[in-house]
Amino acid sequence: MKILAIESSCDETAAAVVEDGRTVLSNVISSQVEEHKIYGGVVPEIASRRHTENISSVVEKALADAGCSYEDVDAIGVTYAPGLIGALLVGVNFAKGLSYSVGKPLIPVHHLRSHIAANYITHPDLKPPFLSLVVSGGHSHIINVKSYTEFEIIGKTRDDAAGECLDKAARAMGVPYPGGANLDKIAKSGNNKSYSFPHPHVENAPLDFSFSGLKTSVINIIHNANQKGEDINIPDLGASFISSVVKCLTDNLMNAAKITGAEKIVAAGGVSANSVLRSELQRLCADKYKLYLPDLSLCGDNGAMVGSQAYYEYLSGNIANESLNAAATMRIDNLSF
Ligand code: KG4
Ligand code: ZN
Repeated sequence: MKILAIESSCDETAAAVVEDGRTVLSNVISSQVEEHKIYGGVVPEIASRRHTENISSVVEKALADAGCSYEDVDAIGVTYAPGLIGALLVGVNFAKGLSYSVGKPLIPVHHLRSHIAANYITHPDLKPPFLSLVVSGGHSHIINVKSYTEFEIIGKTRDDAAGECLDKAARAMGVPYPGGANLDKIAKSGNNKSYSFPHPHVENAPLDFSFSGLKTSVINIIHNANQKGEDINIPDLGASFISSVVKCLTDNLMNAAKITGAEKIVAAGGVSANSVLRSELQRLCADKYKLYLPDLSLCGDNGAMVGSQAYYEYLSGNIANESLNAAATMRIDNLSF
């Protein structure tokens, strides 16, 4: 079964054709990074406008690269939640129009479910159940993935997401957008023991995260140094900060693995591209757990992961009609469409 998948939840306009959830026939991404860079972050209104301008050509290129026409695809998958509402609406309305005009089923895809599915493409042998750490710009979850379409959130952030925290810290350090990815590169030459940060625990919820205190702490270090006229070694500060964020993530994840008796651990989302997180997960899982990391090219937002998850949603009967709407927020474990 060939699915044409569309993704527009944030600042990438993306489309792909994926066969049977695992084989990527094409994967086209039009990134808006350069434009948002001027503002130090994603400007939602600009993102929506660029999606509107780009979506037709991105979808047409995805079909052409796959050697397909609209007739050759069996269904249209689209990210409908969560994300920037104006951005999501562009993809959803385009997919609705396409589904109606070519007479193919419309499959609504939850954005975090698709991040997890990036691993089905990278690892053809991977099947649920498994434990997943989903870390993106807007979410930080530990999820018990019971099947392709059944999820249980067992840990979540109480405030900022890990990606948001890394982006804000990078911005405070003067590191250009996209902060998380650039800070990862700059911090490679730094000493991760140069600065210390608090390790927040959420009372009575040991698997939950809290990143806002870490963010405040790094901003205070920078302000104090500026007031005293002291120089800050950004690679050292970045390396120390990334280590603290990664320790919060991996401590809770390993704890969750022990509690749930998981055998397989799967990382997902934009932050799973982080080099320190990847190497720490490899070290911690070693011979205890089978670790699955998404290919670096599939960590960020892309259409292929949407096409993969859409296949499993279709098999579960999750098919939408012309009343499908986008939603800025939506739990991964309780879809409505
Ligand atoms: O999944 P994603 O592409 O978009 C959302 O769904 O939010 O994740 C974006 C997040 C951003 O916060 C970005 O800074 C972070 O992923 N990110 C990274 C790296 N690459 C992207 N964070 C740390 N290290 C990286 N190498
Ligand atoms: Zn994402």
